[in-house]
Amino acid sequence: MWRDWVELINKIWETDPAAYSRLEIVLFYPGFHALVLHSIAHQLWQRNIKLPASLIAFFARVFTGVEIHPGAKIGRRVFIDHGMGVVVGETSVVGDDALIYQGVTIGAVAAGHMGASTRNKKRHPTIGKGVIIGSGASILGNIDIGDGCRVAAGAIVLENIPANSIVVGPPARVISKKSD
Ligand SMILES: CC(C)(COP(=O)(O)OP(=O)(O)OC[C@H]1O[C@@H](n2cnc3c(N)ncnc32)[C@H](O)[C@@H]1OP(=O)(O)O)[C@@H](O)C(=O)NCCC(=O)NCCS
Repeated sequence: MWRDWVELINKIWETDPAAYSRLEIVLFYPGFHALVLHSIAHQLWQRNIKLPASLIAFFARVFTGVEIHPGAKIGRRVFIDHGMGVVVGETSVVGDDALIYQGVTIGAVAAGHMGASTRNKKRHPTIGKGVIIGSGASILGNIDIGDGCRVAAGAIVLENIPANSIVVGPPARVISKKSD
């Protein structure tokens, strides 16, 4: 776990030109705090120690403004910049090196209507490696966002997106795709 946290500090240092020291990142970056707490909550969740896991997730949300369900699988070096208002649902998977800005929702579609019948089913997105998700974007449902995609600020994405696409919206549309 320590190695992952050090990797994340280095990743933030390399990514964010506004950072002036690694100590600042450790002390004052809510996205860093949220992911450190999530890594602890997720380990407890995997061991079926669910109430303490939820308590840590709750504390993380109050403390950072970032709500990550303890069941969500978050890859290495995922940087949540600013963080406030980010929501990541239970069955989400976020690939290594993703960059997520404030206000992003990685959630289920029409969760209120599906109810308990979808409990324990995959209902949240799988985000590929190195994906950038702009501020306020919503990615909803059990869909795949391919490696290297860029999701524009404010986009609402409801369908699979092939790797290396740039997607803007709403309605979300792919405006460019690099060949793989
Ligand atoms: C999607 C994004 C990655 C594209 O960046 P880019 O590759 O440099 O592309 P461009 O800026 O050249 O824009 C390409 C086209 O998409 C459009 N576009 C870009 N961002 C858009 C957005 N958020 N919503 C709708 N359309 C958008 C542009 O108007 C342009 O359209 P055109 O070809 O008709 O002129 C970028 O615009 C973006 O949204 N980044 C997220 C940034 C962010 O959230 N920052 C928060 C910092 S706190």
